[in-house]
Amino acid sequence: MEKSNELKIAIEIAKEAGELLLQYYDTELSIETKENNTPVSNADLATNDFILKKLREHFPYSILSEESVDDNNRLGKEFVWLVDPLDGTKDFIEKTGEFTVVIGLVQNNQLIMGVVYRPTTKELYYAQKGKGAFMEVGGIEKRITVSKAESIADARFTVSRMDQKHLDYMDQIGVVNKMRMGSAALKICKVAQGDYDAYFVLKSRMSEWDDCAAGFILAEAGGILSNVFGDPMLYNQENVSRTKGTVASNGVLHKDLLERMHPIVEKEYFG
Ligand code: IPD
Ligand code: CA
Ligand code: CA
Repeated sequence: MEKSNELKIAIEIAKEAGELLLQYYDTELSIETKENNTPVSNADLATNDFILKKLREHFPYSILSEESVDDNNRLGKEFVWLVDPLDGTKDFIEKTGEFTVVIGLVQNNQLIMGVVYRPTTKELYYAQKGKGAFMEVGGIEKRITVSKAESIADARFTVSRMDQKHLDYMDQIGVVNKMRMGSAALKICKVAQGDYDAYFVLKSRMSEWDDCAAGFILAEAGGILSNVFGDPMLYNQENVSRTKGTVASNGVLHKDLLERMHPIVEKEYFG
């Protein structure tokens, strides 16, 4: 794929950031709990500093990152980078190998480019507006597309680790195949790649940086990302939290999935 300068540089930075994470992976981490009760380690923070410094060296764009204070300077700006230096901090700490570096680029509130890199397997996912979604493993680039699965009963769903509630929801809507996996971005990329067919979170702690790049890669691979009410995701908003959940699918399953989820959504949101 012919890559824009932004994409080339974001890929380079994501790979270098991934290598930096791996340097921390086998060391004793210093871990703190953030105000939202989630862990953050010295690896998250060092990688964040690295990515922001590198992006700023190359582009004058605003940046929204999970690990930096949001001064709202990004609001109303044409180009904004969205960054999660380490998606899957708990998995990083528990050494499951399932964590990613996430870099997305927004132009006028629309994603135009996304990069997700998984350092432990060196799987790189990326997409550019209108050019399709791609993966690079072992130096080989290949185009990725979503699966063609049509039936929820046969579909392969990904789900966060240690999440009994969503395992129960899946039982209620007739999902049989469930695969636990860390990193929301990785789960969405696995749907984009066609290895899995869908992933949903009813009420999440997710934010724009979690789904930006992977959601865009999914869309370019032919899938759909929406909230639980079926609305598309918005980017570079004042409130960056995903207060209405997240649904990622191969597109074919989306309508049926939302319909089956509807009673649970009603109960959770309005019950
Ligand atoms: C989290 C991970 C996790 C998802 C959470 C996210 P973080 O991001 O993606 O898989 O279930 O909702 O907040 O905190 O590891 O960057
Ligand atoms: Ca995250
Ligand atoms: Ca993170």
